[in-house]
Amino acid sequence: MRRAQRSRQETLSLRRQLIGSSCKLFYPNDPLKIVKARGQYMYDENGRQYLDCINNVAHVGHCHPDVVKAAHEQNQLLNTNSRYLHDNLTDYAERLSEKLPDKLCTFYFLNSGSEANDLALRMARQFTKHEDVIVLDHAYHGHLTSLIDISPYKFRNLGGQKEWVHVAPVPDTYRGLYREDHEDPVTAYANEVKNIIKQAHKKGRKIAAFFAESLPSVGGQILPPEGYFQKVAEHVHKAGGVFVADEIQVGFGRVGKHFWAFQLQGEDFIPDIVTMGKPIGNGHPIACVATTKEIAEAFAATGVEYFNTFGGNPVSCAIGLAVLDVIEKEQLQVHATEVGNFFMKLLMEQKIKHPLIGDVRGSGLFIGVDLIKDQAKRTPATEEAEYLIIRLKEEYILLSTDGPGRNVLKFKPPMCFTMEDAKFVVDTIDKLLTDMEKEHLNQEKTSTGST
Ligand SMILES: Cc1ncc(COP(=O)(O)O)c(C=O)c1O
Repeated sequence: MRRAQRSRQETLSLRRQLIGSSCKLFYPNDPLKIVKARGQYMYDENGRQYLDCINNVAHVGHCHPDVVKAAHEQNQLLNTNSRYLHDNLTDYAERLSEKLPDKLCTFYFLNSGSEANDLALRMARQFTKHEDVIVLDHAYHGHLTSLIDISPYKFRNLGGQKEWVHVAPVPDTYRGLYREDHEDPVTAYANEVKNIIKQAHKKGRKIAAFFAESLPSVGGQILPPEGYFQKVAEHVHKAGGVFVADEIQVGFGRVGKHFWAFQLQGEDFIPDIVTMGKPIGNGHPIACVATTKEIAEAFAATGVEYFNTFGGNPVSCAIGLAVLDVIEKEQLQVHATEVGNFFMKLLMEQKIKHPLIGDVRGSGLFIGVDLIKDQAKRTPATEEAEYLIIRLKEEYILLSTDGPGRNVLKFKPPMCFTMEDAKFVVDTIDKLLTDMEKEHLNQEKTSTGST
């Protein structure tokens, strides 16, 4: 039976009363109450339609009927843990293995990206018998204690950096240490990791793993230069560590050209562990760790069982299989390339028109627009980005920001996002930026007294 709906204000008051205040809302001054969603659209309690440019979890589209049907049908039959034989589990692992390089052939299923990264950390330590981890600056790898420890984005505001954690600079060629004018940013950024390893060894510490998002998203929608991962992996392997690619935000065809974002680095790069989450279940809590036989065997060698009550249950696996089917049936990877290229082209045209736009970068439907206050220093235009997000909401477009300066507009829409949607978003941004520029000019005139 459906419960009667409360007013938005009542829901907000109850939420403030009952839900921990560290659970944040989008648009905190005027939060949305969303009651329904379909495809790339979300609807509030008054039936107003919003275009969702944020939600990479609803990967194949909100409430995709094939995914909903798969869940419903399996729910009517059986849902239990993975201690019984069930074809959904093995079929699903087989289908994922077809998407991955041959070497990554052993699978563990879990319920969240955080669980996946925590297991990857345990595996890396068990396999290497080392403890330390190298991570990229501003990275976020999850909310568990172990992952807060390896997430500079979080630990910088909490207990600080643990002695077993080492932070490497983000390979950002727009505003990082080595930029587009550097003769060899790949080697320069990889040498930073090499140096970190050297320093750690001097202190008698040993590297278990290098963790990186294949495309650092919280770090500001960054595309590491091609070949960086190969060079880093070389240094990390030499030190006896493993390379963990966090594909939790960016996997499953989002980047268009490839199914996995780490493949943007080139054919010759294969991580030792890949973690998956968010889009894998289109909103249902599923996550996965894929690794090599050697690492999986070393993990199992302790004799300690890995048991996860919900991980790999038949319903989750049915949903995961349906998501893969939809990606293939609707050719969403090709779609992401075509729509993404068109979107990027339109955004590039805006970059020429509006000085606030410093950089447009991306692949497929993973796009970042870096807003800057000035061309020379590339100072993050944080307030302008925040203002734009609020104005876009008034135009029924949901978008958010990322990056250490919270100035990068991040586009990660459901993969059914269309060229018309892209045009609508860019036209609206153009209109808003033009208004902002006019307002800025008027303010300048007023302050200088000119007419
Ligand atoms: C890159 C990355 N890794 C891991 C996680 C953690 O995933 P979850 O929230 O499903 O635990 C997140 C979540 O935002 C993420 O963005």
